[in-house]
Formats: sequence, C-alpha cells, structure tokens
Amino acid sequence: MNAGPDYVAQANPPLRKLVPYDPGHDLPAIRRQFVGHTLAELGSNENPWGPSPQVLERFARLDASTLLRYPDPLGLDLRRALAAQLGVSSDEIVLGNGSHELLMLLAQAFAGPGDPVVFSEFGFAVFPISTATMGATPVRVPALPVDHPTAPRGHDLDAIAAAVTTETKLVFIANPNNPTGTWFSRTALADFLAKIPSHVPVVVDEAYQEYVTDPDVASAIDLRARFPNVIVTRTFSKAYGLAGLRVGYLVAAADCCNVLNRVRESFNVNGIALALAEAALADQAHVASVRAHTQAQIAVLSREIRGLDQFVHPSQTNFVLVDFGREAAPIEAKLLAQGAVVRPMKGYGLPTCLRINNGTEADDAHLLHCLKEALR
Ligand SMILES: Cc1ncc(COP(=O)(O)O)c(C=O)c1O
Repeated sequence: MNAGPDYVAQANPPLRKLVPYDPGHDLPAIRRQFVGHTLAELGSNENPWGPSPQVLERFARLDASTLLRYPDPLGLDLRRALAAQLGVSSDEIVLGNGSHELLMLLAQAFAGPGDPVVFSEFGFAVFPISTATMGATPVRVPALPVDHPTAPRGHDLDAIAAAVTTETKLVFIANPNNPTGTWFSRTALADFLAKIPSHVPVVVDEAYQEYVTDPDVASAIDLRARFPNVIVTRTFSKAYGLAGLRVGYLVAAADCCNVLNRVRESFNVNGIALALAEAALADQAHVASVRAHTQAQIAVLSREIRGLDQFVHPSQTNFVLVDFGREAAPIEAKLLAQGAVVRPMKGYGLPTCLRINNGTEADDAHLLHCLKEALR
C-alpha cells in the first residue's frame, strides 16, 4: 500500500503549525468515571441552572418538521426578535453556530496572510486561533500588570490602541474578558474607540455581558452610532444556559453582515436552535435571575478562596481566575481526583492559575471542600 497524502505537509500553510482550541478535559469519560459519585463541572463557564422553563416548553412542542426540513437559512424570526430587543435592524445581525464560529468568520472575512490583527495577552483563546487560521500576523499586546487595582491581567486599552495602525485589519477585545474576568467601563471603551482609525473593525466580544452588574459598564452595541467600525459578538451559551444548543450572534453595520453572509454556511444554525433561542430571548426575567444568583455565588466563591490566601481576580462574569502563586497543575489534579473539574490555564500562559466557574450551591460547596483538601 502506498503512503497516501502527507496531510499535514499538504495542509494550507497557516494550518500546519496551528494549535487548535483546547476545550478542556474529556468530560464524557470523566462522567463515566464518576457515576454514583459527586462531580462538580466548573471548567467550561456554563450556567448550572440551564435555560428558561419556556425553552423546555418550546422544545416539547417541536415536531418532526423541524428535523426533516432545512432550517430558515436567514434565521429571520430570531434575528427580528434580537433586533427588536437590541434596538437595531435585523440586517445588522448575523447568527452563528456559537459566537466561536462568528469570531472565525470575522478573521476569514477581513484578515489575510501577513495582515496585522491586534488583541491582548490573556484575551480569549479564539482570537489568536482565528488569526492563525488565516495566516494573519498576531499583534499580542501585553496585559495590565497583575497588581493593577481594578483589572489585574486585563486589557491595557491604551497599549492596544497604540498597537493599532492604519494597516491593522481587525482588533479583538472582550468585555468582560475570558479567562481574566476583567472588564472596562463605557467611558474607557469610548475613549479607546476614539483612538482607533475609523476604517479598522473592532470586535467587542460580549459573551459574558448579561452577567455584568457594574453600572459603569455598557454594551458596545450602544456605541455603534458613534463608532460604525464596532462589531459586537454575543452568545446564548452563557447566561441563557444554552451552551449545548450552539447559537451566537453578531451586531455590526449591514455591509459587514453582508460580507460575513458570503462566507457563512447557509444553514449554520439548526432549526431546533433557532426556535429555542427565540424562546430563551423572550424570558429576560430568567436572565435577570441567573445574573443575580451568579453575582451572589461569585461573591461567596471569591471571598472563600481569598480566605484560603489565594489571589482571586475580580470578575463581572460567572467565573473566577485564581492565581495560586505556584504551579497549579498538581492542585488541579487533586481537584479532579475528588470530582471537581476546573480549567487549567497553562495554555493561556498562566501556569499558576486555574479558572473556576460557579455551579449550583452544592457544586460550589463541593469545590470549596475539595480545594481545602488540595491545598492542605
Ligand atoms: C469570551 C468568549 N467568547 C466567545 C465564546 C464562545 O462561546 P460560544 O461559541 O459558545 O458562543 C466563549 C466561550 O467560552 C468565551 O468565553
């Protein structure tokens, strides 16, 4: 038998060395291992309460036609519902199979080989991946110092603005950011945008925006009138409790959406997802309740972990980044052995840190118990 293609060598040049997204542990295997034992899954920033009951009711009413027919390629009902809620036009919305897909499409649409794409150190992992996939040149801006009073390891907006040139093809920022949990105010964001050349698209990833309780923070959607180069990505995976459904959306100028629709797979969001995301959007009381419960639990988690003498980054999200001041892998291994799944941060260049999201109160109690044991 001959050897066949050398697929790695024959892959498009940018893909030959690409390190793919790390989705964390093999959770199905861990679940099998822990059958009959307590397992707290706190590594993927999911919402432990899940979606609104209205989503489950809608799910129960779906019939076979949702499966046998292709979904609406335009996702018009969901886009109209989003447009009405956000005060934008439905032409300014693109739906994605998760916002991850949209971040990839943005690089595909606007960054080519060698083009500079600017993002922060410790920014969301998909920013460098989408950049690398296109063979674009990452311009990674050092994060704020760890002793920064409000945003340790957060985005240094002044430095990011200074790194942007007229040649920059795309800027990625996240507010709040994963994995740091840090955020910036509406004023800081507006000051930043005022420094960016108006032809350079700035992507503001707002995957965690529904969790924000700080009144000084606002969505960049409202800044689009002043800054038409702003592109906002959002998701149903976090506060809406629908990570398994895979629905995200983006708000941008209609021309930008038009270009993205040229590369978007026509049926990228399936029919079940379209129907259920619409039901989720209609229940904002559920989102408000998730936000309130999350804020309360994140406050307790932060206080308890600080009580164990560990550094907890401030967070406006459903997770905390904890710096143990020493290699975190052995602590993580001990947590996992006891049935507490958290996210190692070595891949982010933070080997002394672990990222932990809030679960149910029982999950959080289990985590804290396991952590005390692990630190002993
Ligand atoms: C900052 C940020 N952006 C985007 C995503 C992608 O989410 P999804 O593809 O589920 O919409 C995540 C997921 O963890 C995230 O943390």
